[in-house]
Amino acid sequence: MPSKYQRLCFFTILSLIFFSAVAATTTAPTAYELLQSYDFPVGILPKGITHYDLDPSSGRFDAYLNGSCSFSLEGSYQLKYNPRISGNIYKDTLTNLSGVRVKVLFLWLNIVEVRRNGENLEFSVGVASAEFPIDNFYVCPQCGCGLNCKPLEEKCRRGNLRSISLVSEI
Ligand SMILES: *[C@@H]1O[C@H](CO)[C@@H](O)[C@H](O)[C@H]1NC(C)=O
Ligand SMILES: *[C@@H]1O[C@H](CO)[C@@H](O)[C@H](O)[C@H]1NC(C)=O
Repeated sequence: MPSKYQRLCFFTILSLIFFSAVAATTTAPTAYELLQSYDFPVGILPKGITHYDLDPSSGRFDAYLNGSCSFSLEGSYQLKYNPRISGNIYKDTLTNLSGVRVKVLFLWLNIVEVRRNGENLEFSVGVASAEFPIDNFYVCPQCGCGLNCKPLEEKCRRGNLRSISLVSEI
């Protein structure tokens, strides 16, 4: 038989675990942390998302930037984000996307879907798609200068630090 003391100890530990779990979930994740929880890298979204809404049951989301945002990646692809980006998010799949465009030749095409296939991300514009290694998306691009900003900015450092401290609290 466990002693009274042992039982008290056990329940104290249980309630500590419970309350730290509650404390962790009441801190709303940033849009970048949310992406990570669906198995996507943070760099799919540019720096500067001010807020978002998510309906977890349908996966429907809207994410907001202060204004529209454009930059080019590696001097090749030009991307444009509207102030409002919407879609449905599921693990490894972002679909029904609107508000993100890529310039292909002379046309601006909507990126309608992003899928994670293992260590690659597949971007689809409906009629065509292209795959890129996921490690190109570990850092958030910045509006205007993309990934080639000088001086090198902190990108989404704040979001990352928060999730690290959250883990160490638990
Ligand atoms: C968005 O705009 C508001 C008001 O102009 C400003 O206070 C805020 O810092 C901006 N947020 C970002 C992430 O740029
Ligand atoms: C795409 O959006 C429509 C309309 O909002 C919705 O009915 C549908 O379920 C969405 N598709 C997926 C796969 O989430």
